[in-house]
Amino acid sequence: MDTVTATTLEYQSGFGNEFASEALPGALPDGRNSPQRAPYGLYAELVSGTAFTQPRADNLRTWVYRMRPSAVHGGFRQVDNGSLRTPPFNEGVLTPQQMRWDPTPVPDEKTDLISGMMTLGGNGDANAQAGIGIHIYAANASMDGRYFYNSDGEMLFVPQQGRLRLVTEMGVLEAAPNEIIVVPRGIKFRADLPDGPSRGYVCENFGAALRLPDLGPIGSNGLANARDFLSPMASFEDIEGEFELVNKFGGNLWSAPIGHSPLDVVAWHGNLGPYKYDLANFMAIGSISFDHPDPSIYTVLTSPSGPAGLANVDFVIFPPRWLVGENTFRPPWYHRNIMSEFMGLILGQYDAKPEGFVPGGASLHNMMSAHGPDDGAYEKATNAELKPEFLGATMAFMFETRYPIKLTDWAAQSPQIQAGYQDCWQGLKKNFNGKK
Ligand SMILES: [Fe+2]
Repeated sequence: MDTVTATTLEYQSGFGNEFASEALPGALPDGRNSPQRAPYGLYAELVSGTAFTQPRADNLRTWVYRMRPSAVHGGFRQVDNGSLRTPPFNEGVLTPQQMRWDPTPVPDEKTDLISGMMTLGGNGDANAQAGIGIHIYAANASMDGRYFYNSDGEMLFVPQQGRLRLVTEMGVLEAAPNEIIVVPRGIKFRADLPDGPSRGYVCENFGAALRLPDLGPIGSNGLANARDFLSPMASFEDIEGEFELVNKFGGNLWSAPIGHSPLDVVAWHGNLGPYKYDLANFMAIGSISFDHPDPSIYTVLTSPSGPAGLANVDFVIFPPRWLVGENTFRPPWYHRNIMSEFMGLILGQYDAKPEGFVPGGASLHNMMSAHGPDDGAYEKATNAELKPEFLGATMAFMFETRYPIKLTDWAAQSPQIQAGYQDCWQGLKKNFNGKK
């Protein structure tokens, strides 16, 4: 039989739209979702990303038209979890200590995205659909003959080194560093690493699906604009062989044999699917008078948790931007936060920490743990001439979450820990002498 491989890199734009895409003409049934016989002899299958009865504004579902139903695979058996952990976990430590890590090295031995994923920490409870897992991937090989889907949560990929190409049920997406990809819970994919050695961050979101934040008085434009989110066009694999289907379920990895590529969707329509976004398209809004707003002004995507404005997790970036505030301490102020802050750096330099926080590295400031600019950044900011300044060639990000983040053993005992991180504040002098 002919072998067809998904190679199309075409996108349709919009966020959460009711997309419709077919890789062969007429593959989408006309008018009915599940006709008596679907075109090309395809099987109709519904993927529900929310409960059937959730309100229309929240409801996520997609119809896929595929060569075989997804149920066609062998039996699952549990396999080794590698360095993946899922909250709640017994190991590790829940610490108020400010933490910082150097970049995780990319291994020399052949490692694909799934086997190269290491859990740094997490919170909540995957089975209760609350909280997040934070992972670092360091890998060098494409997934060969195996496919993956995650029942525990959706996955936000933040590549930092090397492109990440995901061949999914809905089509192909590729993200270079400074772009992100989100794959919904349950959607199957395999990952190619076209640049070889690759590294990045992953937020595994057990809570409500990520969405664009409301804009309130900002109005109808700005921050991440909906039209800059890109969803793939339908593209399928028609391949038979001895493959493996890996599922993350209840915190464990399971494996089932499968005799064909499960990426055999010829057409689909719906609003549940993977998408990508180029962080360079983020329209940053900030102060044009004095002070600067809370960093929530840089929220790209948010997973709400119930109480208004209280996020299970926010994905926040610190993009290139002009600083113009008059009589203003321009770096992030010293602060303590009920939300817990995990940060990574994709490229460049972060203004509060010119030293030590390097691309590929990470930091954690847990609930109410004090932090802010280091002594050098404080000295510089308090003595700088306040002319307009462009903070260019930088991209830091934050996973900000309502629950404290527990570290895994891997993170708490990592050789990449910067043991002296706290020293960065110890040079901050007492300037007070009773005189104004
Ligand atoms: Fe912070």
